[in-house]
Amino acid sequence: MASLVEILTVEHLSISRMDVIRGSFDHDSFVAFRSYLKECHIEIEEKICFPILETFPFPDRKVFSSNVERIKADHKLIDTLAVNIIRWSEDEKTEMLETRLPLFYKLLTEHNTKEENDLFPRWDSIDSQVLKSSSKDAISIIDSFGRKEYMRIIGFNDSSLSYFFGTK
Ligand SMILES: [Fe+2]
Ligand SMILES: [Fe+2]
Repeated sequence: MASLVEILTVEHLSISRMDVIRGSFDHDSFVAFRSYLKECHIEIEEKICFPILETFPFPDRKVFSSNVERIKADHKLIDTLAVNIIRWSEDEKTEMLETRLPLFYKLLTEHNTKEENDLFPRWDSIDSQVLKSSSKDAISIIDSFGRKEYMRIIGFNDSSLSYFFGTK
């Protein structure tokens, strides 16, 4: 079983290599990616990962909390841009798409790096029982989204999924 931030980091790696945001745009794939990002990845971060980190008594707790707030504001910005990209694609505004898709990729990958640098290393301070239950809670969010669809988007097969989440 992997820890929740290890799983989120693997997702970041997978995201950074996805054709749908790196350049070869496809409407339906982008719509599916946006759903995954909002309903699965961001949901796990905001509903499971960040609240656990925010309850830990770090000496710089206040500064840390304002970092988390900034990261959450990024999520809103990223999703707004994703919704606009979908709209521009539907309206066939190709020029807007061509200029904003690289911006979306940059914004998202820089955001993910920020999480890996500023938030995720603190996961080491969290109690092992909490670590275990957090991966279980994550799989229930993934199931609400659709386990098969999650595996397809991230590139997990049955074995890697059960290894990472400790499922059968
Ligand atoms: Fe995020
Ligand atoms: Fe993330």
